[in-house]
Parts: sequence; structure tokens; C-alpha cells
Amino acid sequence: MTVPAAVADQLRRLLANAHAPYSKVHVAAAVEGPDGTLHYGVNVENAAYPQGWCAEASAIGAAVSGGHKAIARVFVTSNLDELVWPCGGCRQKIFELAQKACEVVSLAPDGRTDRRTIEELLPLGFRLAETPSQSLK
Ligand code: THU
Repeated sequence: MTVPAAVADQLRRLLANAHAPYSKVHVAAAVEGPDGTLHYGVNVENAAYPQGWCAEASAIGAAVSGGHKAIARVFVTSNLDELVWPCGGCRQKIFELAQKACEVVSLAPDGRTDRRTIEELLPLGFRLAETPSQSLK
């Protein structure tokens, strides 16, 4: 899976909206539902550093707020000259709502892409037996 041009364009546009005055690392993410619906988000830093949050968390918040609780795919890009991958906390957030074979697709500024399944990124992830997303499998 490469990144559809429209998604890549929107992610790149959104990098300007990131609030990252401390790290200067601008990140944009998109969460795709099983029906193809896309929700986007950017990272939002805070002067009290631990209060900031990642682009993936923003995108997941937008998806859930819009009534979409299943994740088929996550796209992520940044202004770093490399492929970025979700932090540990965001891997867990994705895992919570991940559909079977859910993948993360990373896009570098030069157009390179790579992808990993959420199971590759978070082997043996924590999930309660009664987690609702289990029924999506
Ligand atoms: N960041 C994300 O938003 N997503 C990632 O996948 C990696 C890191 C943010 C957190 C922080 O605002 C900045 O990048 C630098 O760590």
C-alpha cells in the first residue's frame, strides 16, 4: 500500500497546523476506517511538556468523536527527513481500535513509504478480554 495522492497532499498540508514550538517536529496523521472514512490530526505540544500529544492521538480522537471506532489503516508523516513511526503510547492507542491486519503506513518528505502491521509494531499488545474491538476480528 502506498499513500493515495489525496491523503499525502492533505497530510503535507496539515503539517503547517501542528503546534510544535518546542521540538519543531511537525507530524500529521490520518486514521482510515474500514469503510474508507479518513480522520486527520496533528501533534499538539504544550509548555508543560508531558501535556502535549501526538498526531496519531489527535486523529484517533477525531475518528472516535465522529463515531468511527475501528481502524483499518493509519498514515503518518512529518517534517523530519526520515520515516517516522508511532511512539509506544500511540501504538497502544491504535491497537485498542485496530481491525485485523491494521497497518501503519509511514510517508517521508521525499515520497518514500514503508508500512508495518500494528502487530509488528506492538507484539503481544495489551488488550482486555472484553475489549469491544475484539468483536471486529
Ligand atoms: N510525534 C507524533 O506526533 N507522532 C509520532 O509518530 C512521533 C512523534 C510528535 C510528538 C512531539 O510533539 C514531536 O513529535 C517530537 O517528539
